[in-house]
Order: sequence, then C-alpha cells, then structure tokens
Amino acid sequence: MLSSKMEAALNKQLELEGYASFLYLSMASWCEREGLEGCAKFMYRQSMEENEHMMRIFNYINETDGHALAPAINQPPHTFESVKVLFDQVYAHEQKVTASINNLVALSYEEKDHATLNFLQWYVEEQREEEALMRTILDRIKLIGDGPQSLYYIDLELEKINEIEEKAEAESEA
Ligand code: FEO
Repeated sequence: MLSSKMEAALNKQLELEGYASFLYLSMASWCEREGLEGCAKFMYRQSMEENEHMMRIFNYINETDGHALAPAINQPPHTFESVKVLFDQVYAHEQKVTASINNLVALSYEEKDHATLNFLQWYVEEQREEEALMRTILDRIKLIGDGPQSLYYIDLELEKINEIEEKAEAESEA
C-alpha cells in the first residue's frame, strides 16, 4: 500500500512523463515539417515511449491501492529555433526527469517503501540510457555542425540511431 505522500509524488511524476510525451510529439511534428524524417521518426518513438513511462506509473499507483489521477498537461512549444536547440531541450527535460526520479527514490527510502523502491529501479536505468543517448546525439550534432548544409547529415545520423533502436526493440520482443 502506498503512503499518501508517495501516492502524491507518483501522481506528480505522471505530469512530467505526460509533458515529455507531448513535448516530443510536438518536436516530431516540427521535424516532419522541416523535412527531417529521421529526426521526426526518432521523436515520434520517444513520444510513445514517454506515454508508456507515464502509463507504467499510472498502473502501478492503482495496483498498489492508490488512485492514479490523469494529469493536467501544459501545452508544449510548437516551433524550435534549430535542431540543435531542439535536442538541447530534450536533454534538459530528461535531466529534469532524472532529478525527479532520484527524488522519488529518496522518498521511497524515507517511507521504507521497498516495493516502490524496487519499481523505480527500471526508471533509474531508463534515465541513464536516455541521457546517454541524448548526449550522443548532441555530440554528433557538434561534430557535424548545425548550419543548413549539415541538416541532411544530422538526419542521416538519426536514421542510423533509429535502425539501432528498432533492432534492439525487435530483439527484446523476440
Ligand atoms: Fe520518461 Fe524520458 O523520461
């Protein structure tokens, strides 16, 4: 059973994951309109993943006798200065999510809530992977440059990352 403090904190996390899902959806749409198909595909997948992150917590709250509350989501921005700025924003949001997950872990220690502590380990690992992936993308953008001539090559890099991610997903489902 969840303490009311833990339940409220997990419900709060739904907002962050839900916002990430809509922010990445908005980014996917912008990329698509800019002709960046690889980036768009990447952001659509990230958006779906964030929805799954939200639902995993949502289901956990109800499974542990809490009440999962569908969150209010602020409308994300619709336009982005450049593809580099867009990925800077993704990285910043992921860091914010990581900090929030760490706070949830700390709270589950305080509350002696071992079930939630155990549940959160998946998120600890997921955040480590997501931050590493975003850093890799930003490093590549730095190497390629983000002027108009570079966009084609940035998009190709994202296509390569999409292929790797899709292969890993297929293997995990097999
Ligand atoms: Fe679910 Fe990428 O934070």
